[in-house]
Amino acid sequence: MHLELSKDTFFTRGGILDTLLDNTFDQAIAVDKDERIIFFSKSSQLFSGLLPEQAIGKHIGEEVANHKFTEVLRTGVADKGSLLVLRDKVAIANHIPVIDKGEIIGAIGIVFFSSLSTVNKLISELSTTRSKEYFEMYNKIARRESSYTFQDFIGNSDIVKNLLANAKSAANSNYPILLIGETGTGKEILANAIHSENKHTFLQPFVKINCSAIPNNLLESELFGYEKGAFTGAFSTKIGKFEMANNGSILLDEIGEMDILLQTKLLRVLEEKEFERVGGSKLIPTNARVIALTNANLPTLCREKKFREDLYYRLNTLEIYVPPLRARMEDIPLLVEYFINSGKLNIKLKKDAIKALMQYNWPGNVRQLKNVINRFGVLKHNQVIGAEDVFAVLSQSPLNSFAAAHKTAYLLEATQISNEKAIASPQSLENIEKTAIERVLQDCNYNQVAAAKTLKIARTTLIRKIKKYNIQASL
Ligand SMILES: Nc1ncnc2c1ncn2[C@@H]1O[C@H](COP(=O)(O)OP(=O)(O)OP(=O)(O)O)[C@@H](O)[C@H]1O
Ligand SMILES: [Mg+2]
Repeated sequence: MHLELSKDTFFTRGGILDTLLDNTFDQAIAVDKDERIIFFSKSSQLFSGLLPEQAIGKHIGEEVANHKFTEVLRTGVADKGSLLVLRDKVAIANHIPVIDKGEIIGAIGIVFFSSLSTVNKLISELSTTRSKEYFEMYNKIARRESSYTFQDFIGNSDIVKNLLANAKSAANSNYPILLIGETGTGKEILANAIHSENKHTFLQPFVKINCSAIPNNLLESELFGYEKGAFTGAFSTKIGKFEMANNGSILLDEIGEMDILLQTKLLRVLEEKEFERVGGSKLIPTNARVIALTNANLPTLCREKKFREDLYYRLNTLEIYVPPLRARMEDIPLLVEYFINSGKLNIKLKKDAIKALMQYNWPGNVRQLKNVINRFGVLKHNQVIGAEDVFAVLSQSPLNSFAAAHKTAYLLEATQISNEKAIASPQSLENIEKTAIERVLQDCNYNQVAAAKTLKIARTTLIRKIKKYNIQASL
């Protein structure tokens, strides 16, 4: 398949061709044979935040990853249904060569699904047929969604170095991981990075679900799927996130919000590694690795009987605390530089501005800092920013009054925890090791030979570590 267009029509375009490209597809981009962008539809701008005048003239590779233009321009053969990544957003596209009297003069990329939720919806509707092709497509998309690695978590303070070391050690085991931290501290980046770091999961699906965004009565069927006829409206069988995440990881965001009855089912899944769909009786095995996130104080919720203690203990084998930004202010200069560069912002911050940023308490953490820098990028484009600009922006922050009015107690408590944890953090790697050994010993019924084998260490090393950590060695 190709488009037969004269050079004139293709390069001057206008009229019906532009109208069609602008309005018929989710996005459209045209390149000349040197892969320079010559057309960038208005809809592409909505999707990528890039204005046509910023895009036109650029080499396609600067803005779009994974594109197939090079191949299509070389071979003159269209590419259909490939994933295209535009500024971190994923879309499904066709790349079609444009040919004038036998000569390849350029190509057009048209995007059908610029929203992954459309694709997800489509796939979940089709998933009951268990079409291999669609599962593969889903996996491809899921993989792209977890594109973060540990390098994307910016910071060079000792706290961050420790955090990343702990998270990397945890990543390579198969135990559930619990990431605890205030809003905006980067838990989701870390969860992605953990999935990408683990050699068993990185090529497998990474499936996310936010337990607070879905009403509890629907959450169960989202997590575990349902059988046809399970309830009114269940016209066909639907698989749940646990099945989609098989072999890979499932991210349970805001786990503290999960209904207590559902917590019971989740606990059983973690222990038995199998579950039933809603309305079903068949046991379905799962080996999805659970990564749970929360900004709630789970021990308090356990005391209040809102969170099952046994589930908490099952999840916290590998508990990682993600400290708030105010506990690692020395990371601010690096984060600021990172946000300016990655957002291609044309601003400069004076030393006193950085100092002012380092004195704020950041209730919204890194997310709030990123927003402040982006705000400067828009409001102070081409300018040098001083401390007074920082104070002006921060005093307008809705989080400021929010923090003052509603969150003082919480923040005070969180700061105390963070300080304690910060002091204790050099121990955390050892803690992880200790907990892992305890858990494996338990799982192996305290058979040290089996436990050493599972842990891939010599038995003598195991015995040494049991002594070192004063671990219970037998029943
Ligand atoms: N260390 C970091 N380096 C770079 N960017 C970061 C870092 N931490 C957070 N961010 C940015 O801050 C934003 C929020 O991060 P993320 O979604 O991971 O936070 P979270 O802890 O999951 O918050 P919430 O509990 O509100 O969901 C994202 O835009 C992310 O890119
Ligand atoms: Mg999050």
